[in-house]
Amino acid sequence: MANLLVTGAAGFIGANFVRYWREQNPKDGIVALDALTYAGNAANLDGINQVDFIHGDIRDQALVARLMADHRIDTLVHFAAESHVDRSIKGPDVFIETNVLGTHALLKVARRHWLDSGSGQPHRFHHVSTDEVYGTLGRDDPAFTETTPYAPNSPYAASKAASDHLVRAYHYTYGLEVTTSNCSNNYGPYQFPEKLIPLFIANALHGRALPIYGDGQQVRDWLYVEDHCRGIEQVLRKGRVGECYNIGGGEELANLVVIDTLCAAIDKAFAHDPMLAARFPDSPAAEGKATASLKINVADRPGHDRRYAIDEKKIRDELGYAPAHGFADWFAQTLQWYLANESWWRSIMDGSYRSWIADNYGHRAGVAV
Ligand code: NAD
Ligand code: TYD
Repeated sequence: MANLLVTGAAGFIGANFVRYWREQNPKDGIVALDALTYAGNAANLDGINQVDFIHGDIRDQALVARLMADHRIDTLVHFAAESHVDRSIKGPDVFIETNVLGTHALLKVARRHWLDSGSGQPHRFHHVSTDEVYGTLGRDDPAFTETTPYAPNSPYAASKAASDHLVRAYHYTYGLEVTTSNCSNNYGPYQFPEKLIPLFIANALHGRALPIYGDGQQVRDWLYVEDHCRGIEQVLRKGRVGECYNIGGGEELANLVVIDTLCAAIDKAFAHDPMLAARFPDSPAAEGKATASLKINVADRPGHDRRYAIDEKKIRDELGYAPAHGFADWFAQTLQWYLANESWWRSIMDGSYRSWIADNYGHRAGVAV
């Protein structure tokens, strides 16, 4: 049995991970720590049994130290971060504060608790990172491996790269038992509607524009969030201490392909369920028109990475990981989740996020203000 401290547990991947871990490991203790920034939502953890939710900041070392001691934490899974590239372009400071200084605060507490206090207890600090630390690929370049040199391009990617280096240094210098995973673009339930897939679903249902950055030919490797959670579990159980593992979905798709898939799936859903037209009267699909008519081309994201691709040979060969959820089927499931959980995303989009996105993007995000 393990006692986990999960940071960023009320965010998209953190909440899916807590749900996954509780189902797979019903006897383990789980403490869910989250500062509930704009991206955090305690309701993401609703219905999960026996999770201690703590509203707090990873930079609060006294709080984290108390949680580690009181709950006899042996495994820390670190998701908490500022995670949206567009926000990092507008305001990088909070990315440094949370992703760099926050990760360092956690490392200091973990070192004191597991090493300096001399408990000798087996432990694991698992750091969740991104493929964006490797930079961008040309069309014919080989996919990112764990030895691809770091070349982060956005302030977000640079802050994650810095945190990866700190995690590595705490292993090599102090002997902290760490692992890191670098994953590709996740999709699935509870994703905050500022990222491509949930934003475009919500905009399409409201009849708002679908803003395509640049030519829409940027390529991402799409990973269903449950596959990501399973990959992290395999790293925790069987991964070698001090190592990094890339986790991918094995589905490289151009943004326009994803967007066209999304538009076609919404048209199909409306054709099958006449109630959707009554629920979302502003959607073009409610009048039998194509959702794709909402697509607009907008200015490209500054420094927009052209292509990410994951070579997952290491995690496959060493740990037996393979993604189990293909994009076509699991995008359709994801759309069904957003249709069935309208109140979840509507409450977010009607709240402070709406004024933030209007201030920062105006027409680019297609939000009518
Ligand atoms: P998210 O933005 O949905 O959630 C982040 C969570 O961290 C939020 O609940 C927020 O309240 C919390 N948080 C932020 N600052 C905090 C602080 N100082 N103290 C405590 N909690 C704080 O992000 P996500 O998409 O779930 O991403 C989780 C992790 O996975 C991040 O580290 C991110 O870099 C990484 N990642 C995400 C993706 C993706 O596609 N979403 C891809 C690769 C890597
Ligand atoms: P995003 O979901 O922000 O993830 P990331 O930047 O971490 O890859 O964006 C995914 C892709 O979609 C990326 O190439 C940018 C593009 N994109 C748009 O074209 N329009 C949008 O409104 C958003 C949010 C993203």
